[in-house]
Amino acid sequence: VINMKDVDLTNKRVLIREDLNVPVKNGKVTSDARIRAALPTIKLALAAGAKVMVMSHLGRPTEGQYEDVYSLQPVATHLASLLGQDVPLVKDWLDGVDVESGQLVLVENVRFNLGEAGDDDALSRKMAALCDVFVMDAFGTAHRAQASTHGVAKFAPIACAGPLLSAELEALEKALAKPARPMAAIVGGSKVSTKLTVLESLSDKVDQLIVGGGIANTFLAAAGFPVGKSLYEKDLIPQAKALMAKTSIPLPEDVVVATAFSSDAVATVKNATDVAPDDMILDIGPKAAIAFAALLEKSQTIIWNGPVGVFEFDQFGGGTKALAMAIAKSDGFSIAGGGDTLAAVDKYNIADQVSYISTGGGAFLEFVEGKVLPAVAMLESRAQN
Ligand code: 3PG
Repeated sequence: VINMKDVDLTNKRVLIREDLNVPVKNGKVTSDARIRAALPTIKLALAAGAKVMVMSHLGRPTEGQYEDVYSLQPVATHLASLLGQDVPLVKDWLDGVDVESGQLVLVENVRFNLGEAGDDDALSRKMAALCDVFVMDAFGTAHRAQASTHGVAKFAPIACAGPLLSAELEALEKALAKPARPMAAIVGGSKVSTKLTVLESLSDKVDQLIVGGGIANTFLAAAGFPVGKSLYEKDLIPQAKALMAKTSIPLPEDVVVATAFSSDAVATVKNATDVAPDDMILDIGPKAAIAFAALLEKSQTIIWNGPVGVFEFDQFGGGTKALAMAIAKSDGFSIAGGGDTLAAVDKYNIADQVSYISTGGGAFLEFVEGKVLPAVAMLESRAQN
């Protein structure tokens, strides 16, 4: 693909697609990781003297309709404070945007436009007509073939990849294409069904596949352990068994259980063999944490998606914390992605010790699954002709 750094941006109208889909509460951005990740790209374009227009989606509004709660105004305000520069939000922008060289505007939520989700050609052409150069930098939305990620790249005079998108692809390729070994992955989360393709794809690649959360419960049940009232998926036991026959999937020797799911639930450590009928497994136990941490510490490549326990409640956070610390200690190449995972990275303060933190949730998983990201495929095809 063409890289933004190789394109002359001086005095050019530059339209940058970022993923600024961040959590907003009461009109305030509550986690700005994605905004901070986009800053270097925006600053580069400003420094080059471009007329910068940034676009993004926020949430999932009803298409074609303005809805206040999905306005990018909180993002514009936050971005302005990070940049120390005005960031006007342009509400009606499809018919043209006024912006000077070295200045920046944010255009209102792309999903307010009819045709965005359907990758409509007419809408894509309108976006393309706004710019001389289109920069696709929204890795977190690169798995969506939509007008602002894919369609616009088809029609823009020049379509290139921004530095954030390039860095994301490079880090993921490093972890997946020719990983240093041994390689381990942690896949946590509540359901096997939502992560089955990721588990299948990783099971062909990794030396150790550590599962956690509700996903691990299904594997425990598949291996014949009692899981009591724990969340698990009975109908996916055959798939879990097939995965265990293919790859090393270490199961926790001990677990943390409770009889209720709440912030004040009493946590009890039990051997995995001793889970009672009214127990819910809410974390891996201390012995399992030590065993898994040891596997991680000697891994040369680690991919992390999903916590291994209900870490929002401290008494069920020990397992996730221990694995986070092991990743921090490992001198291998580590990559973490997904919303819950980044919350855990923040909670246990290991951001500086993870080699690469992805801004992608769904996009991260689709890349790990080996799927083609349509927005990237479009940049590739544009680079060829
Ligand atoms: C995400 O948060 O994963 C991306 O911003 C994509 O959002 P979407 O799932 O609403 O397309």
